[in-house]
Amino acid sequence: MTRKFFVGGNWKMNGDKKSLGELIQTMNGAKVDPNVEVVCGAPSIYLDFVRSKLDPKFGVAAQNCYKVPKGAFTGEISPAMIKDCGVNWVILGHSERRHVFGESDELIGQKTAHALENGLGVIACIGEKLDEREGGITEKVVFAQTKVIADNVKDWSKVVLAYEPVWAIGTGKTASPQQPATQCHLCNISVAEDQRSVTGGTCKELASQKDVDGFLVGGASLKPEFIDIINAKA
Ligand code: G3H
Repeated sequence: MTRKFFVGGNWKMNGDKKSLGELIQTMNGAKVDPNVEVVCGAPSIYLDFVRSKLDPKFGVAAQNCYKVPKGAFTGEISPAMIKDCGVNWVILGHSERRHVFGESDELIGQKTAHALENGLGVIACIGEKLDEREGGITEKVVFAQTKVIADNVKDWSKVVLAYEPVWAIGTGKTASPQQPATQCHLCNISVAEDQRSVTGGTCKELASQKDVDGFLVGGASLKPEFIDIINAKA
């Protein structure tokens, strides 16, 4: 099955109504490749705002959600709340959730199951840290992360698996264009490729690599060059 090229923008904890409003205006006015699926991960407090302003041809994602529908879970949001804002996607298992907030593989699996059961599409992130790569356990780590997610997925059409090598983010180490493909084979599964080097300048070369069928972009998704990244295959 041919997969549609997927470009996720993860805005992380950045922006305000003014700056995100300007970015949205740029996106809405841009000429973008209609064969690319674009989803922007907005801070939860701005989900409603972003969904109401962004052209409906672009998807919106929450950056996290909890594993149950409601209850005494201060600070958390549920898939039902996300859907109530007209938002149809959620990013789960991002490396910052795993390594800054200590989320386990098991919790990410439970969140994945609950989000899918409630009709959200899931951008599920996997990837090894630098010490794991250097310790030769990349395959073990990525396999374990992927297995817990896979065990909770019945319908893969609602899932984008984003391989995010943590060592390529914010470390100054940049993956070569060929490295992602190696990892994709390791996962043997649909992948939105995520590495620090995805910018307006590098996206075309990366997009042309075998087995790279998408990006999950952080910093560059907050800038006008995100349009170039969306159009990387055009
Ligand atoms: O979710 C996005 C990734 O963490 C990449 O972030 O492009 O800012 O390095 P970055």
